[in-house]
Amino acid sequence: MDMNSESPLFSEFDEIAGELWENNAQWWQRGFTEGADPEYEEQIVPLLRYNLTSSHRVLDVGTGEGQLSRIASKVHGVTFVAGIDPTWPQIEEAHKRSSHIAYSRSEAAAIPFSNGSFDTVIACLVFEHISDVAGAAAEVSRVLEVGGTFLFFLNHPLLQTPNSGWIDDHIIGEQYWRIGRYLIEERTVEEVEKDVYIPFIHRPLHTYVNMLAGVGLFLTHMEEPSPPRGFLDKAPEYLEAATIPRLMFMRFTKA
Ligand SMILES: C[S@@+](CC[C@H](N)C(=O)[O-])C[C@H]1O[C@@H](n2cnc3c(N)ncnc32)[C@H](O)[C@@H]1O
Repeated sequence: MDMNSESPLFSEFDEIAGELWENNAQWWQRGFTEGADPEYEEQIVPLLRYNLTSSHRVLDVGTGEGQLSRIASKVHGVTFVAGIDPTWPQIEEAHKRSSHIAYSRSEAAAIPFSNGSFDTVIACLVFEHISDVAGAAAEVSRVLEVGGTFLFFLNHPLLQTPNSGWIDDHIIGEQYWRIGRYLIEERTVEEVEKDVYIPFIHRPLHTYVNMLAGVGLFLTHMEEPSPPRGFLDKAPEYLEAATIPRLMFMRFTKA
């Protein structure tokens, strides 16, 4: 299903998106947490740990079932971790898996903490599901103290644009990575596995970087790692495209 951002179906998208996450939280929990996903184990978790070494008070926005909150809570020097997510089955599972973390059912655009409450905010594979991204960016900045850090993980916005993918053209004998309509902000609902539909919002990279700069969050570091070994072992069809990153990580500092 394609839902262009200019369409009157804009708010209908939000309603559908909320329902889809409520219905499909278990798909996420089953396939991507507790060691099930090599991209988390070999890439996201190490990057996160490395970037939390001087953190004390951490907020995990769109925490899901809390896997990154749990990681953060075990990092030396971290004294308080909170996680927010609007999807009830995620928050419920997060509580079960780690009762010592302060979880609440909230949207990124309405974070229930006061100004400057955290020195670190994490958002991992979340902003591509958020409609009110300007509201979310403003809230992240508001709850960060000056000099605080925003650790931002995204599905690579350029190379994983909807309709991107490896093309093996046997007729002309060429192989290449096709890129979708990168500059167009686009809302889609994708069937990620049989009968599991997840909402995505594609935005070009400049939208994120400029929006975050507009709320005082400045890019200080960026990584585009190649897909990790464990992912390629499970997805041999991606081997030919192993030089195409799936993940983008950016670190922002609050001025
Ligand atoms: C792909 S999961 C990532 C979960 C977690 N960050 C992780 O890395 O394990 C995306 C999460 O974003 C949450 N989400 C969707 N819309 C959101 C919003 N407006 N504000 C905050 N979180 C949202 C979903 O409920 C879901 O748990």
